[in-house]
Amino acid sequence: MSGQLSPIDKAKFVAAKRAVDFVEDGMRVGLGTGSTSAWMVRCLGELVREEGLKIRGVPTSTRTAELARQVGIEVISLDEAKWLDLTIDGADEVDSDLNLIKGGGGALLQEKIVATASDQMIVIADAAKEVGQLGAFPLPIEVIPFGWQTTKALVEETLINVDVLTRDTTLRMNGEAPYVTDEGNYIIDMHLSRIGNPRQLALIVNQIPGVVENGLFIDICDIVVIGHGDGRVEVRDINAGTVEEDRVDFLENENLFIDL
Ligand code: A5P
Repeated sequence: MSGQLSPIDKAKFVAAKRAVDFVEDGMRVGLGTGSTSAWMVRCLGELVREEGLKIRGVPTSTRTAELARQVGIEVISLDEAKWLDLTIDGADEVDSDLNLIKGGGGALLQEKIVATASDQMIVIADAAKEVGQLGAFPLPIEVIPFGWQTTKALVEETLINVDVLTRDTTLRMNGEAPYVTDEGNYIIDMHLSRIGNPRQLALIVNQIPGVVENGLFIDICDIVVIGHGDGRVEVRDINAGTVEEDRVDFLENENLFIDL
């Protein structure tokens, strides 16, 4: 069955599979959103069902909440959990300092709140997400619908004085209508090509009235697990300064592919 997965899906799967090794009995775990996180939720569900792992999960989107319940994970709200032991989530780009662009799936606000409320954040990604400099992937910002066009104009004006290569901004659409987040907000994607100073940009953008949050995750991620299509994984720990290499066996995990 795993033979039917594309190399990129295999890479996402092995990163997710390796990352759930960090989850221990009794933990409150932040559950990310996106295709890589969906693998992680399935892997955790299997551990809950087959090995009796006892965890409570705080999802970062309605999509993830639904999947988590389906696979047997007890779902609680962040307010119930208050603080989390660990969050595992995907990313759109990861640089060598483990700073991230997130929000391609539109869940950046809950993702950032949940990751920030965690002792540790682990990012899971295929190797294509690793970049020398952030910015090729459009940077999403979540804005409130009220006056969004004015907010967009203010964002564009702000970008004039920021070290980026291009400055296009677009409202994310869902067919003919604006894409609406779980919090009822809109998303503006900033096409910047290269971000010279992500830390500064993250601070500046959040100063603009109407902007709720941006998709730059600075100093939030502790560990990144990079997966490859042939089963290899690298585990980079920014605090310990270590890089470990490992391998995940697809054949041992065939039951996870049955429903695909
Ligand atoms: C969701 O809003 C995003 O932050 C995702 O975590 C990110 O887009 C990665 O998604 P994939 O795992 O689907 O590539």
